[in-house]
Amino acid sequence: MCGIFAYLNYLTPKSRLEVLDLLVTGLKRLEYRGYDSTGVAIDSPDSKNIVMVKRTGKVKVLEDAIQEHFTGGEYSEPVATHIGIAHTRWATHGEPCERNSHPQRSDEGNGFVVVHNGIITNYNDVKTFLRKRGYEFESETDTEVFAKLVHHLWKTHPTYSFRELVEQAILQLEGAFAVAVKSKHFPGECVAARRSSPLLVGIKTKTRLATDHIPILYGKDDKKQTSDQETRPHGQTRELPVLPRSDSTSEFMPLEEKEVEYFFASDASAVIEHTNRVIYLEDDDVAAVRDGTLSIHRLKKSLDDPHAREITTLKMEIQQIMKGNYDYFMQKEIFEQPDSVVNTMRGRVRFDGNAIVLGGIKDYIPEIKRCRRLMLIGCGTSYHSAVATRQLLEELTELPVMVELASDFLDRNTPIFRDDVCFFISQSGETADTLMALRYCKQRGALIVGITNTVGSSICRESHCGVHINAGPEIGVASTKAYTSQFISLVMFALVMSEDRLSLQQRRLEILQALSNLADQIRKVLKLDSKVQELAKDLYQHKSLLIMGRGYNFATCLEGALKVKELTYMHSEGIMAGELKHGPLALVDDSMPVLMIVLRDPVYVKCMNALQQVTSRKGCPVIICEEGDEETKAFSSRSLEIPRTVDCLQGILTVIPMQLLSYHIAVLRGCDVDCPRNLAKSVTVE
Ligand code: G6P
Repeated sequence: MCGIFAYLNYLTPKSRLEVLDLLVTGLKRLEYRGYDSTGVAIDSPDSKNIVMVKRTGKVKVLEDAIQEHFTGGEYSEPVATHIGIAHTRWATHGEPCERNSHPQRSDEGNGFVVVHNGIITNYNDVKTFLRKRGYEFESETDTEVFAKLVHHLWKTHPTYSFRELVEQAILQLEGAFAVAVKSKHFPGECVAARRSSPLLVGIKTKTRLATDHIPILYGKDDKKQTSDQETRPHGQTRELPVLPRSDSTSEFMPLEEKEVEYFFASDASAVIEHTNRVIYLEDDDVAAVRDGTLSIHRLKKSLDDPHAREITTLKMEIQQIMKGNYDYFMQKEIFEQPDSVVNTMRGRVRFDGNAIVLGGIKDYIPEIKRCRRLMLIGCGTSYHSAVATRQLLEELTELPVMVELASDFLDRNTPIFRDDVCFFISQSGETADTLMALRYCKQRGALIVGITNTVGSSICRESHCGVHINAGPEIGVASTKAYTSQFISLVMFALVMSEDRLSLQQRRLEILQALSNLADQIRKVLKLDSKVQELAKDLYQHKSLLIMGRGYNFATCLEGALKVKELTYMHSEGIMAGELKHGPLALVDDSMPVLMIVLRDPVYVKCMNALQQVTSRKGCPVIICEEGDEETKAFSSRSLEIPRTVDCLQGILTVIPMQLLSYHIAVLRGCDVDCPRNLAKSVTVE
């Protein structure tokens, strides 16, 4: 959701056309996050002005507009130092249209232009304040107030540096945001900052960097004034916050390179093809580049602040985020599952010795074993992975396990205790509701365990300990391989917790054995693809699809229905088969499409009962059953057979036909598989 990409080349000549090409490619890499409009800003050929192009719709539309707009030969001239900013917008304030797209500007002369992710909650107060000072607003966005506030500060504090202007503006703003700002008054400089929304800086130099750390600076530039009077947006006069000064100048050791390129981006997929050296900014960090030098400043100093931000080397490969031979990222990600599940277990499960080590939480296991209860918290698909594994966690940990949707958990002000262990499950590691729930539990003293797929994400960094699911980058908005890897991560945790329980050893062995066969079994399920495609042809013109099951497969029903809704815009509902008689049975007739999961597990008899209830109402369900189960298959003319595995892992094999089915229905209905309408990959607002 909303993507920021900015590119600064310092003493590395590039034509404006090359810069635009880089910006557009950056935006393409962020497309998966979900968006509805786009925009870029670069310098005009005489470098005295800023030119912007914005479009509603896809990045391709912007790309075409750029080709039309920048035709003159002057755009092919190399410029030694330049900064371009770009954005994909997911509408929150104001409809998707060019006027509301980013960059947003400070004034008609484009003095300051800004791209922004997140929400400024007090933007109305700031707007009123600025209106009183003669500012007129041209968009409905909260972002525009930021650009105009920086402009106002620039007019009233002519001695401030660019970084100070942005800092002072941020101090007046509330909410969660990341920004990158460019200004014609400060050519060749870029300032970026984050508060709760993700942002990283990629660094590309010709030679290997001499340092792995960028020191953090506090305080204003020495040359500048600090104590100007200012009026706060909501009317009270007060002194502008004066940042504490650095104690010694030796703290000032920013990265200095002769020729250097910087990339500011919402996530690593946009920079990885240029550099693998990145710094993940923390909340209230302000990163500024001036004269090719990057420095990182903190708005507030706290005792536990580290002295420097580490430069991380990304392990991700560009091929990992490319589509390869597949038509869509989602299709690729579904078919990657035999490998991604193995990657989740790699280095952790030793099948020969039946041992499991989760390095990221092993030191906390004794504390976890002493806890009052486990809480699993997430949104969307991540929440379903908690539903899928709850029963096994209860069985193997012998602890009460609560499963919570992050948004509802926060609404209820749920009581949390110091001896609770709270798991935050999130593919992106940036989902706002999950992150807020994490902070809520952390404040109350609970132990925080992160289960994420994105190294360096906010949830990763704010957890006490955790498990990286290692599924590889997931680009399709609808989550697939992250789900099966989250599932396995939680199963591995349950196995670790039961390591020394004699009575559970047989069960553990059975699960470990099944885990070792999982990749092959997934390959077998993926061979159902063409059969599922045929089934999709039967179903795609219907309005609705009911998916029924219970026990270990109830989560598959919820996740399957979510996939169908997200991708195909059809109505779909995951129904707990035990609840059929309490309402859903009224929906069943000979025309209602129904899919039922009936496997040979402890709830088989109950599932058969539900199946009979459906067929006796003339329902003709599609059945997902075990390979060779003729008795169950006999209840329908359409079935999908999956290999037999241990009951608690069935959900991994049953969800794959559902992923394939929603994918094929979406293709048949002409839907945008990787970027469904109105949805975003990373939901960074509440
Ligand atoms: C969005 C995505 C879903 C995802 C959910 C939670 O709604 O479209 O696919 O399951 O967010 O995301 P997370 O990154 O926290 O797992």
